[in-house]
Amino acid sequence: MPEDLVKEGEKILLWGGPDANFLTEYRVGKAVHSHRGILYLPEELRWGEGLVSSTGRVFYVIRPSNADFILRLKRKTNIFYPKDIGLVLLYTNFSPFSRVIEVGSGSGAMTVFLSNLLVPPGKLFSYDNNPEHQKTAKENLKNFGKPENVIFRLRDVYVCGFVERDVDIVIVDVSEPWKVVPHAYRSLKDGGFLVFASPNIEQVKEMREVMAKFGFVAMKTVEILMREWQIRDVGCRPEHEMRGHTLFYSFGRKTKTQKDAT
Ligand SMILES: C[S@@+](CC[C@H](N)C(=O)[O-])C[C@H]1O[C@@H](n2cnc3c(N)ncnc32)[C@H](O)[C@@H]1O
Repeated sequence: MPEDLVKEGEKILLWGGPDANFLTEYRVGKAVHSHRGILYLPEELRWGEGLVSSTGRVFYVIRPSNADFILRLKRKTNIFYPKDIGLVLLYTNFSPFSRVIEVGSGSGAMTVFLSNLLVPPGKLFSYDNNPEHQKTAKENLKNFGKPENVIFRLRDVYVCGFVERDVDIVIVDVSEPWKVVPHAYRSLKDGGFLVFASPNIEQVKEMREVMAKFGFVAMKTVEILMREWQIRDVGCRPEHEMRGHTLFYSFGRKTKTQKDAT
């Protein structure tokens, strides 16, 4: 099959401009209805091809980006936003072969994204104590990610901790992250990364104090503000609206200092 042909069942983004773009699955003959007309998907479809809708709007067939997927996930919880996910990868030396733990699975935004990057023996161990949330994360993973790279575990991590040892990265997104520190300490390799995401700075302070007691070093807390710009012939300027706050992201490295800490 020529490389530029879209395969049956592949996800495509139909780009008809900022006011009309739709993520769908390619099926021969499928009718895609929108406020910019109906599109019928032809027998042979090529990446980059332009299709004309019943109202004359041109839609280009492009591969969805990771951000396109994440923003369209079914949601039961707050999620990690694409702008923040890149930061987590950069500050944790993430590689496709990393062994990573996350708590909680939530809606699976991080789960989907990491699953698409991991290559065996790289693996993600995704924990949650809420079966409904984990079910949503699993559905999203099946739709948009690579389930073979993820192992789900349903348990209360505050009480039961993690099964795995010698992992490279632990990512924590729960309301009382300090309750996870002893467990993360036990599961991380020396030098491994503990990342936590919290909406409030009081949580960050408390968590960092506990991490310091456990001998975590090289701690850093950051927040990313991302502002999109309108670029046009005249009057280029920032968009009026932006997401003012998502989460504070904090990072620390495990040391041997507290080897016996419980
Ligand atoms: C904000 S969501 C995580 C969102 C996720 N980072 C994403 O990007 O989709 C937090 C999740 O942590 C789970 N959680 C809270 N406390 C927990 C605990 N003690 N053990 C395991 N999971 C927990 C909740 O059920 C919820 O699904």
